[in-house]
Amino acid sequence: MVRSGNKLKRIFSIVPLASAVAWAQGAFAQAPQSVFAPAGPVAQTQLNLLSLTLWIAIGIFVVVGSILLYTVIRFRARPGDPIPKQIQGNTTLEVIWTVIPIIILIVIAVPTVRDAFGLASPPPVDDVLNVRVIGYQWWWAFEYPDLGIVTANELRVPVGKVVNLTLESNDVIHSFWVPRLAGKMDVIPNRVNTMWFVAEEAGIYYGQCAEFCGTSHANMRFRVIAQPENEFHAWVEGRRAVEAFSPANDLVARGQAIFESTGTCFACHNVDGTAANGQVGPDLTDFASRTTIAAGLLANTPENLARWLRDPQAVKPGALMPRLPLSDDDIQALTAFLYSLE
Ligand code: CUA
Repeated sequence: MVRSGNKLKRIFSIVPLASAVAWAQGAFAQAPQSVFAPAGPVAQTQLNLLSLTLWIAIGIFVVVGSILLYTVIRFRARPGDPIPKQIQGNTTLEVIWTVIPIIILIVIAVPTVRDAFGLASPPPVDDVLNVRVIGYQWWWAFEYPDLGIVTANELRVPVGKVVNLTLESNDVIHSFWVPRLAGKMDVIPNRVNTMWFVAEEAGIYYGQCAEFCGTSHANMRFRVIAQPENEFHAWVEGRRAVEAFSPANDLVARGQAIFESTGTCFACHNVDGTAANGQVGPDLTDFASRTTIAAGLLANTPENLARWLRDPQAVKPGALMPRLPLSDDDIQALTAFLYSLE
């Protein structure tokens, strides 16, 4: 009996289990969209809650599992055993297994309620960057109402600043999620949700729509680009300085003419300083400074742009951008135009 008890202790020893969990957390933290690698206070608070609950759950699993396994083996029926002593009820045991869970639930509930209400409240400072997030099938619009700037799929923010978001949807329910910065928030038609986060290190943080929203839900990606304050302001100033666009050469001029001709790009897309002021698709004013196209699907390269212009649905199934009858020359001119939009 004693021997089997020792063996169980070894099998269920908390040490290898704890190392396995720590290893798994470390491995998950390497992934580009990992809640185990928080880069700001909101994500850190949420990870602390998750860790507390996770470790308590692991503890319960080990204790209950060990007792169960021990009991099953130690008290198993053997041939010729008499009927065991019949007992009914045990007040001491019942009090113990009622009180312990109550204590555990209190330990989990107190920080959970505190943080849930804390994070749902407006940000704790007045100096914030306000951004209006609008979800579309299948891309994201980011408007900076105080700066008069609109962009798409790449949300630029200054490092260390509280970013205060209002979230709205143009069509169906989406969910805004940047795992390293903050937990998910639903983006719902006819409703304005709010959330905030801070990015404490410069870098690119991967985001993803986290609510099934149609054919290309999985392709509804975005990035949060956290920059030092001066770089962010340089970008803002650059965007605000856009006046009348003047093409640098004939190819760009031809591209602009195609972009602005009836039934093409300009009906849906806005480009500051040109005749294009469509409000249906992503704003392309700073197209050349984006790192990706097609809502984070492809790196922003001329080859990928040509692929996208030739057949958007082949890149992003269900994409609402129509397949336009563009010749290779047209695509070359459009590409030249788009890459002149810094
Ligand atoms: Cu939008 Cu899923």
